[in-house]
Amino acid sequence: MLHTTLQSPKTKSKRSSKMRYGISRRKRALLRCLFILFAAFTFITRLMLTLRSLDAPPTTTTTTSNGAMLDLPAQLELLDLKRVAFMSSAETPIQAGPKTKNCATVDEMGKVFKGRILKDSFRVRKLIQTHFSINGAPRIRELPPEQFCRHGFVIGKASEAGFGNEMYKLLTAAALSVMLNRSLIIGQTRGKYPFGDYILYSNLTFTLREVKHLWRQNGCLKKYGRHLVMRIDDFEKPTKTNALCGNWRKWPQPIIWYQGTTDAVAAQFFLKNVHPDMRNAASELFGKPESLQSRPNVFGELMRILISPSRDVEEAVNWVIGNGGRDPDITLHMRMLMNRSVRAAQAALNCLKRAIRNLRQGSRPRVVVISDTPSFIKGITANISEVAEVLHFDYERFRGKVSDDIKSLPSLEFRVKDWGPAPRWVAFVDFFLASRAKHAVVLGAHRRVGTTYAQLIAALAAADSIGNAAPCVLQLICMVCYLIVGLILSGENSTTSRFSFLSSFQGNLLAEGLKLQVGWGHVWNRFAGPLSCRGQSNQCAFTPLLPPAWWDGQWQSPIPRDIHRLEQYGIRLSGFGTIDENQIHAFCSSRKNIVKTVSFI
Ligand SMILES: *[C@@H]1O[C@H](CO)[C@@H](O)[C@H](O)[C@H]1NC(C)=O
Ligand SMILES: *[C@@H]1O[C@H](CO)[C@@H](O)[C@H](O)[C@H]1NC(C)=O
Ligand SMILES: *[C@@H]1O[C@H](CO)[C@@H](O)[C@H](O)[C@H]1NC(C)=O
Ligand SMILES: *[C@@H]1O[C@H](CO)[C@@H](O)[C@H](O)[C@H]1NC(C)=O
Ligand SMILES: *[C@@H]1O[C@H](CO)[C@@H](O)[C@H](O)[C@H]1NC(C)=O
Repeated sequence: MLHTTLQSPKTKSKRSSKMRYGISRRKRALLRCLFILFAAFTFITRLMLTLRSLDAPPTTTTTTSNGAMLDLPAQLELLDLKRVAFMSSAETPIQAGPKTKNCATVDEMGKVFKGRILKDSFRVRKLIQTHFSINGAPRIRELPPEQFCRHGFVIGKASEAGFGNEMYKLLTAAALSVMLNRSLIIGQTRGKYPFGDYILYSNLTFTLREVKHLWRQNGCLKKYGRHLVMRIDDFEKPTKTNALCGNWRKWPQPIIWYQGTTDAVAAQFFLKNVHPDMRNAASELFGKPESLQSRPNVFGELMRILISPSRDVEEAVNWVIGNGGRDPDITLHMRMLMNRSVRAAQAALNCLKRAIRNLRQGSRPRVVVISDTPSFIKGITANISEVAEVLHFDYERFRGKVSDDIKSLPSLEFRVKDWGPAPRWVAFVDFFLASRAKHAVVLGAHRRVGTTYAQLIAALAAADSIGNAAPCVLQLICMVCYLIVGLILSGENSTTSRFSFLSSFQGNLLAEGLKLQVGWGHVWNRFAGPLSCRGQSNQCAFTPLLPPAWWDGQWQSPIPRDIHRLEQYGIRLSGFGTIDENQIHAFCSSRKNIVKTVSFI
């Protein structure tokens, strides 16, 4: 196993490393900017020179798995077929005409996600920043009593189960706080933050203890007659949640807890809420569900502002990266569930090599490898070492402070199958190490590709990779350049794809299309229905940073299990993923409003 030179982490000053990091990043951004300007200039010149020899304008085409080309009109035709299929509520796959295809490969489905994060993510970054500058704890704390007592909060609570799912609970609360223009509370258990030994939370958030204190101090009950009441809405109880039918922006309760929100789906349910108020607030944050090409990296942006590694975890991350070492270029995450499938390794290696080719950098790339299955890492490291330097957190050799915790932690034998045999804290070092990747995250799996954990790694890495929005003149120039270059190159070879998120599928996982991607919160689940081709070869597909919650996109279609699940929420979903808005309205008006509250003061 290759490792960076081991140096005592204690000799390393965290602050100076951060500063160096910041400066070099800015320098790099400037260089990149100049390079792009130059590239744009070159391309425009070349375009001018070759323009005269062009007789026909190029058409946008999509290559199918059979090598057949599907042009734009044909793609639109398919979309129409999707609608027609819904109108006649046919449950069988559509007929393949000479020009249209009735299914797509994962690579084809992923085309739309290639390098699109920049524009929409900057917009959402700004939105989130503005939100927290208005609703962040430092400002709200100072409000005069009559304003403070009218202010609203959303609370995020997490237990210490699987990190991905628990983190999504907090991030959903954060997203909801943005949609509802309320402040964010991070729930504590006996005075401790969730994963508080490994994660620090932004001082823009409140604790419930502080809100209670301020409520009393400001006399909200005594002077204004306002009780500190929390309204609870449980997303995991389909017959009780108001995600689709309630106008949460009008709820009078000072605190809202949206419970059981373990993935990217719950927050995006509001995209189909019957109240325009709610729907608009949701699409301002998440984009429109049918435009897969313009979906911002919401959860990555939220993490970027809300969480950071604890000192101990950061110490371990820096130990792996090496004293003053370069940040990794690429992360490979393999969820193998103790299987050592050679085919999964083979497919992932090819996908990784493609990401490496896209780097186009002179120096030897650095690749972080993480997996729940240590023997898998051992196996694949030699192969990757042929093309890149492998970084891996070998916790048994780490002597930093965090490792002292091993002894005090209870054994979690029952989760070994799910999380692997490594101690719990290792998952946090792996998380923050993996999210330092500057250029790409590649996922593979034994069965389901795209766990919530891996999804969040990619989201955070992507958010960090687009740098700081602060030097705005520079960013503006960059964005204009990207736009120009992007337009000229019509998507292909475009510099807009500064960060890629790739999923690797071995052919045997795709024998029946994406049918095995049954996880409700897994990123490819929304594509797993009849529109995914059977018998695909290995795939290496661009992957959305924001997992879709609905099925409105061109190649999206649900599996029967999810049609059934949505039925419980009162939604009739067609076999092609379309829904009837009128039906939701009818459902909501026939349903009785359920209010569950708890009073604190
Ligand atoms: C959000 O709340 C603040 C006061 O806390 C108010 O000034 C602002 O107009 C609200 N914004 C929206 C979009 O409702
Ligand atoms: C909050 O955190 C930011 C960045 O972490 C820091 O610059 C600021 O001083 C902190 N504010 C308070 C009041 O602690
Ligand atoms: C690993 O997965 C493959 C393919 O699903 C299966 O054939 C094999 O039996 C599994 N091996 C173990 C040790 O579980
Ligand atoms: C890794 O390399 C070994 C030795 O060259 C080879 O036998 C094996 O097939 C390779 N594994 C993959 C997944 O390519
Ligand atoms: C993109 O680059 C590849 C290889 O450099 C080239 O074959 C292809 O034609 C390019 N595509 C476009 C649209 O320029």
